[in-house]
Amino acid sequence: MLDLKNLSSEINLKIQQVKDRETLESLKTLYLGKKGIITEAFKSMGKIDADNRKNFASELNIIKSNLLDQINSYQSKIELKEIEEKLNSEEIDITLPTKEIKKGKIHPVSQVIDELTCIFAEIGFSVAEGPDIENEFNNFTALNTPEHHPARDMHDTFYLDENKKTLLRTHTSPVQIRTMLNNKPPIKIIAPGRTYRCDSDMTHTPMFHQLEGLHIDKDINMGHLKGCLDFFLKKFFEDENLEMRFRPSHFPFTEPSVEVDISYKLENNKIVVGKGDRWLEVLGCGMVHPNVLKNVKIDPKKFQGYAFGVGIDRLAMLKYGITDLRSFFEGDLRWSNHYGFDANDVPTNYRGLSK
Ligand code: DAH
Repeated sequence: MLDLKNLSSEINLKIQQVKDRETLESLKTLYLGKKGIITEAFKSMGKIDADNRKNFASELNIIKSNLLDQINSYQSKIELKEIEEKLNSEEIDITLPTKEIKKGKIHPVSQVIDELTCIFAEIGFSVAEGPDIENEFNNFTALNTPEHHPARDMHDTFYLDENKKTLLRTHTSPVQIRTMLNNKPPIKIIAPGRTYRCDSDMTHTPMFHQLEGLHIDKDINMGHLKGCLDFFLKKFFEDENLEMRFRPSHFPFTEPSVEVDISYKLENNKIVVGKGDRWLEVLGCGMVHPNVLKNVKIDPKKFQGYAFGVGIDRLAMLKYGITDLRSFFEGDLRWSNHYGFDANDVPTNYRGLSK
């Protein structure tokens, strides 16, 4: 018959030697496995005489349940230890650099278009649009541009067919024609957009941006034009002292036609727009030619108006000190990060509309 006292002290000894999951498992198998010492002892109880059997069984049960208790408590200790070891080895390294979050920037051209849209909205202009691919009529003929005009020359214009009927618009002025053909006066619109000419150097790119302005109503005169441009230029350059002057010029679609210069000075070889004794040409404008009005079936005796066209990229260069126009369209991220605008940090009050 198995000596239970011996068994009990042997178990106690073995339990103290348990170090890890493996030694615990083999202890379990040794005593409680299918052929384990305790399992076998229970099986062979039949051989014990009836008087001792009861005692033996209850003692063996106590030893078994003690052993199970011990095994359970060791098991949880080992699990805790394992978790601790895992936590220690998988420690988070807070000194590691975080992943860089890349934020896009608003291109100066988009920024300037937003600024101009807001400025002109204040004095009642809405935004009109037209396609980049235009027909010859809207781009030239309707704008009173005769066949022999240099603007029609192959070198300036990207024609899209041999008959020179379709082209990439060379200016935003065809939006004037589209708007007047589709709307009755009064008309007061600006049309910002892409324009194309076969030209490339520091200050010219084959694709560039213009903003067209058109105001048609009864009794509109050059005074209205000057007042409008004065308001826009002072607001845009954020300078109440900015001076402007009209200089006689020629455009086929306006009569009279003028070019507008603004005052500036040079500081460390840099252009500073505002007060100064130098003049810088910024835009072309004039009173809409009666022929243009006739071409769009507006009676020039009843309605008059002014129009203007300004280079958006040039305005951006002047206001934000960018010297090379070609860099605008190279898509260099370093350039965008330097000259671009943060969507949450627009420098002026334009994005939320103005005061
Ligand atoms: N379309 C002209 C250009 O591209 C600019 C211009 C001048 C537009 C006078 C106008 C204007 O509306 O009246 O050079």
